[in-house]
Amino acid sequence: MTAWRLLVAGLCVAALALGGWLAMQAPAPPATTISIWDPADPDLGRKAYAMCQGCHGLDGRGVPGYAPALAGSRWLTGDPRAATLITLHGFDATSEPGAAYVSSRMLAHGQLADHEIAAALSWSRGQWGNNAPAITREQVTALRARFASRSTPWSPAELRAIIGAP
Ligand code: HEC
Repeated sequence: MTAWRLLVAGLCVAALALGGWLAMQAPAPPATTISIWDPADPDLGRKAYAMCQGCHGLDGRGVPGYAPALAGSRWLTGDPRAATLITLHGFDATSEPGAAYVSSRMLAHGQLADHEIAAALSWSRGQWGNNAPAITREQVTALRARFASRSTPWSPAELRAIIGAP
């Protein structure tokens, strides 16, 4: 009887160990996106901007010395690919000469769903005196797919190369 118990206990330990080993061998799960807001909500842009406002401000002026203003930002209102990639993967202009405002980089916000990124960008591209056309969900989806392996924030030089700016 005791021998049986020992055998069963031993098998359990072995099964647990095997399970743990298998879990460690499993590839990392794909990066997931969270969708908080209804794509059909007409107020989606303002709501999705809540994910940005802690740093960039409800007034779009940013936080001096920490996060740049989005009011009048050329990165936001210029080529839609730059603004989208900054949001998907983050932005690191800390090595850019003359980037006075920059003390830290922006981390990726690619965990947001494509329609939320499109809405937040489109909304802020039309606020605070900004007057740039909307960015569509399809544009975000295409860029996410094209740069799926990207895992670090973009530098200004990399973005300029992508958008073909000097
Ligand atoms: C935790 C703080 C934080 C949050 C949240 C945040 N950002 Fe940023 N963002 C930054 C910082 C810091 C920079 C500047 C990084 C640098 O220049 O190295 C930046 C830069 C930018 C820029 C470039 C602006 C310029 O002119 O240099 C854009 C566009 C931008 N963010 C969009 C967004 C959007 C859209 C969201 C919401 C989905 C968002 N950010 C959320 C901190 C944040």
